[in-house]
Amino acid sequence: MAQIPLSNLSDRKILLGVSGGVAAFKAVALTSLLRQSQAQVEVIMTKAATQLIGPASFQAFTGRAVKTNIFVAQESVTSNHIQLAQWADIFVIAPATANTLAGLSWGFGHNLLTCTALAVTCPILLAPAMNTHMWNNPIVRDNVRRLKEFGFHFVGPTQGHLSCGTSGPGRMVEAEEIYSAIINLLDGR
Ligand SMILES: Cc1cc2nc3c(=O)[nH]c(=O)nc-3n(C[C@H](O)[C@H](O)[C@H](O)COP(=O)(O)O)c2cc1C
Repeated sequence: MAQIPLSNLSDRKILLGVSGGVAAFKAVALTSLLRQSQAQVEVIMTKAATQLIGPASFQAFTGRAVKTNIFVAQESVTSNHIQLAQWADIFVIAPATANTLAGLSWGFGHNLLTCTALAVTCPILLAPAMNTHMWNNPIVRDNVRRLKEFGFHFVGPTQGHLSCGTSGPGRMVEAEEIYSAIINLLDGR
């Protein structure tokens, strides 16, 4: 991982949503950068995300239980979607799958991640990740357009090697780039 200058985020509360893309492993690296910056970090994972990476990887960095279920109250500073939403200074969703983008675009609250997104008043930063054909799909394009109109912020995707063996747009940007986008948004840039 390339080293970047870290900010002091000791007074910052970062809510990280992880949906079911293979780039979820990069969200662990992002969590590490945020914790090295002294930020408080809460993680929400979708069910699909937990199939791709274990919640324990995030918990190891945050020291807090990962939230996955909208109906189960888990012991933490925050427990349900309203508390999580009100707690956060920024909600970062990385990776953001095509499915999650669709849910956000149309206002679904079908899981803890999308339900929380409906309730936040802080900025939401999306880091999409998907196959190039998915990213170029007119339905996805339309959802991205809608989300931008609603004020969602985006970082990436970029071009490059994809886990499906192809190369093109759809690759999630690296943790350092998401980190920089978070700093810019928190600084009002
Ligand atoms: C190995 C694997 C990798 C996947 N990677 C992606 C991905 O990068 N982007 C994406 O949009 N969907 C990807 N999917 C499909 C999503 O996991 C699937 O659409 C799921 O329903 C997303 O649910 P979620 O948005 O609630 O996490 C992948 C599926 C598998 C099995």
